[in-house]
Amino acid sequence: MDKNKKPIIITIANEKGGVAKTTSAINIAAGLALREKNVLLVDIDSQTHLSNWLGFTFDGKPTVAELIHQTVAQFPINHTDFIRHNEKLNLDYIPATPMLAGAVTTLKVDQIDETTVFSRIFSDGYFKNYDFIIIDCCPSLDLRITNAVKCSDILLITVQADPIPYQGTDKMLKTLLRMKPTANIGEDVLILPTMAMNIQVSKAVLEAIYASYGKMVLPPIPFRASVKNSSANRTVLVKRTSDDVGRAYMKVVDVLIGGVNNG
Ligand SMILES: Nc1ncnc2c1ncn2[C@@H]1O[C@H](COP(=O)(O)OP(=O)(O)OP(=O)(O)O)[C@@H](O)[C@H]1O
Ligand SMILES: [Mg+2]
Repeated sequence: MDKNKKPIIITIANEKGGVAKTTSAINIAAGLALREKNVLLVDIDSQTHLSNWLGFTFDGKPTVAELIHQTVAQFPINHTDFIRHNEKLNLDYIPATPMLAGAVTTLKVDQIDETTVFSRIFSDGYFKNYDFIIIDCCPSLDLRITNAVKCSDILLITVQADPIPYQGTDKMLKTLLRMKPTANIGEDVLILPTMAMNIQVSKAVLEAIYASYGKMVLPPIPFRASVKNSSANRTVLVKRTSDDVGRAYMKVVDVLIGGVNNG
């Protein structure tokens, strides 16, 4: 095995709620697994939607909140305790519970640097076996997000192709970039337009996204009822070649793999 191999960490973020962060995290991760990549998903949202989607039920073992707590406390970490596996999707994941809501307070008392706790967690040699680590963020810009952005190789921002959620995207992007000033626009900061509809207002937002962020824009994901069903039934769409959302997410997966192979 290549001693220098390290996982590509992708953080999926947006301060707005309901803009398909979790839907994108799960479909991109499942798509990467279909391309035979070894993937770890990390849920840092106390709403626990990603964990629920992956079938997590409380099992008494530690979750992401304890991982943060033990790292800040500089306790030894037994990584296997934190990782669960979803057999059907062939994905490993670190689940969240509502207890994660207190993580910001824990991060704030870190004695080394409150913004690099996740960097320390994921630079451990234990994670070298993964090709990709995907972090699904909560809808905020709090210290969890600062940590996730700082430790990531790729910042993927889901932007809903709709006028109201689109408002303030530029300001939010500037805030996120301040968390990682070394980021290269178009290479490690990418915009994924989501829920694109065949109506004038949605098309206008998509045009505005291309005009503002052309170089950074991934292939858009269309709005379809199949996604609502997949969220409710906890399935993924990338496995369905007949579904255009599934095909759209696979295009994104191939861009991400291509970018990594070229980079
Ligand atoms: N392409 C799509 N077409 C139709 N509905 C979609 C699409 N993508 C996501 N949705 C729906 O939008 C809702 C919000 O999606 P999701 O939970 O992924 O957003 P989120 O950004 O993770 O939300 P939160 O900020 O609360 O974590 C869900 O009901 C989901 O099924
Ligand atoms: Mg979510």
